[in-house]
Amino acid sequence: MALIEAQSVSKQFGDRLAVDDITLRVSRGLCFGLLGPNGAGKTTTLRMLYGVTRPTSGSVRVFGIDIAREPRRVRARLGVTLQQNVLIESLSPRENLRVFGRYHLLREPALSHRADELIDFLELRSHATVPVVHLSGGFQRRLAIALSLMNRPELLILDEPTTGLDPAVRIALWSRVRELRAQGTTVLVTTHYMDEAQRLCDRVAIMAAGKIIEEGAPDELIAAHLAHEAVEFDCSPEEEHALLDASATSAPRVRVGRRLMLYLPNATALAARIRQADPQDLRSLVVRPTNLEDVFLSLTGSNLEGPV
Ligand SMILES: Nc1ncnc2c1ncn2[C@@H]1O[C@H](COP(=O)(O)OP(=O)(O)OP(=O)(O)O)[C@@H](O)[C@H]1O
Ligand SMILES: [Mg+2]
Repeated sequence: MALIEAQSVSKQFGDRLAVDDITLRVSRGLCFGLLGPNGAGKTTTLRMLYGVTRPTSGSVRVFGIDIAREPRRVRARLGVTLQQNVLIESLSPRENLRVFGRYHLLREPALSHRADELIDFLELRSHATVPVVHLSGGFQRRLAIALSLMNRPELLILDEPTTGLDPAVRIALWSRVRELRAQGTTVLVTTHYMDEAQRLCDRVAIMAAGKIIEEGAPDELIAAHLAHEAVEFDCSPEEEHALLDASATSAPRVRVGRRLMLYLPNATALAARIRQADPQDLRSLVVRPTNLEDVFLSLTGSNLEGPV
């Protein structure tokens, strides 16, 4: 049985269809990523999955329970970190954790024990007694995640958990998410960082304009959509044709402003031919493995104009 089952779910806000007939199943024990450009409908989808936004149509079952009928029963077993932190700024991390624990009906000594466990788990010890208002954005984000773990959730929902975090904190957080997953927690995460999704998620669904347009394991999606090598360089659309030879004219590509990315089985050879054709041309040519970001850009559009 899937832990989350959303069947033909839509959400209409006025004349805007924010989520358009999506069907989603997330199996227990997975780290599942929901990806998509700004405004794609990710947060709205998550909100319907944990029962704070009511779908216009469709049904959602979490842990096999209909969330429209028994939202409290479902919410007691899950943890949510919202896109914007919800913290009591005048209180310290430890006090925030204790307040939230009491809301989940934890009593002493379990309450203090769990708060201390999470202070260590998210490395908040050095600032555990400092009012939240004086904490950096990274500490506040870690505290928000700690709060969502207070009730030892079976399902953890994280809406852009690492936005604005420095690289070391992001990597540390990925390890924590992996640990939780290894202990059996199912994780549903949204992110705009495709490297993060590729490293962290067993499966991802890509949303655009309210619809799920693709779903699968990151490596499967890359293999299914694009050749395994990419060459990228700066050039104007006018220069593009002159620079490429016959082998490259039909290769799938993504353009973001002046940056052109071409996907083909032997990108190294193409880069060498471009170099040879004009040794005076000093533009840098980067050859690299194709990644999830390439798939994301090719499916959702590389700029504000829509899919390529
Ligand atoms: N309460 C609301 N009332 C009206 N429109 C809304 C409401 N919530 C979301 N929307 C609209 O629904 C669409 C999807 O928004 P949503 O926040 O789900 O996107 P998102 O994928 O989470 O984007 P982001 O990556 O920027 O967080 C947007 O056009 C947004 O303006
Ligand atoms: Mg969002």
